[in-house]
Amino acid sequence: MKTEYISWSRETGYREKELSRAADILRSGGLVAFPTETVYGLGGNGLLPEASLKIYEAKGRPSDNPLILHISREEELYRIAKCVSEKAKMLMRAFWPGPMTLIFEKEEAVPYETTGGLDTVAVRMPAHEGARQLIFSAGVPIAAPSANTSGRPSPTTAEHVREDLDGRIDMVIDGGAVGIGLESTIIDLTAEVPVILRPGYITRDMAEQVVGEVMTDPGLAGSDSAFPPKAPGMKYRHYAPKAQMTVFEGNLEKAVREIKKRAFQYPQAQVGILASEETKSYYPYGQVVSAGSRKDHTIGRGLYDALRKFDRLGVTVIFSESFSGEEKSEAIMNRLLKAAGQRVVSLEEK
Ligand code: TXA
Ligand code: MG
Repeated sequence: MKTEYISWSRETGYREKELSRAADILRSGGLVAFPTETVYGLGGNGLLPEASLKIYEAKGRPSDNPLILHISREEELYRIAKCVSEKAKMLMRAFWPGPMTLIFEKEEAVPYETTGGLDTVAVRMPAHEGARQLIFSAGVPIAAPSANTSGRPSPTTAEHVREDLDGRIDMVIDGGAVGIGLESTIIDLTAEVPVILRPGYITRDMAEQVVGEVMTDPGLAGSDSAFPPKAPGMKYRHYAPKAQMTVFEGNLEKAVREIKKRAFQYPQAQVGILASEETKSYYPYGQVVSAGSRKDHTIGRGLYDALRKFDRLGVTVIFSESFSGEEKSEAIMNRLLKAAGQRVVSLEEK
């Protein structure tokens, strides 16, 4: 299959013909990758079982891992979700359109192929104008997982999408680099107290200010298999570079020293170091990649691109600084630790 490339920009939007072509492809069951404010999504008609099956196939994704339905206006929600509670409405009013996905009981119109066999459905209204315009033009809810090959870091540029999916999907919409860079916060609203199933830009504090108590899925902590995560996708090793990665937790100065020491045990070309703008010059040896600036809060936006760079450099081992304590660090550390398969070295204070 030859993949078509079109573009969208904030200044000029779409070319009208190209937008209607993209919407036609979606309506008729084809796949279009498009930018959102979080990461690029791989869109298909969420009400067509065969479109969802194509998404799984293009990504190489296990079919028990459900998709998020994307909508452009609130009224579209009631076609796909039941029992929309008062709390749900409060969260929607506060954070939609935006980087928040809500889990509801599903309406019959939503096929099990889209929900991975579950009776619940995940729904999000993205803030990205180009994404909303595309969904509106298609006239159907758009199922869209992140537009990466399953297991690789989510794409934050159209170039990342091309790396993974060129020739496997109908179209890619290039909207430049995304703003947030980490996937949406997922909140389950099927019980009385809302539960965060995946941390993101909308933090627990922000949600609690709107609806009172919010819990975090205990399964997110990682290693305890007695508490598997409630979002099926969170159980897979994910967001991962090809090399084995270890994260150094604790005092940053100590982490830098320890990483430098360990790096010397490997050939220079094979060892990757994940650092920040503020610390990258401290490492005289190894392939140093900066995720972004701690000071300017750009680590979240740059993390996946940094992980992909290590794949291109061909390193076999990666040592990473920790970004605990930075803005949105819960989401950043959740993705980083998953990429590292929870391999952490804690540097105790002495
Ligand atoms: O920011 C985002 O959410 C991006 C953009 C494209 O919107 N999408 C995204 O989709 O991250 P994906 O498929 O990569 O991740 C969806 C996550 C998975 O962990 C999946 O298991 C979970 O949502 N999920 C979907 N439906 C669910 C449901 N009914 N119950 C629990 N978890 C669900
Ligand atoms: Mg994903």
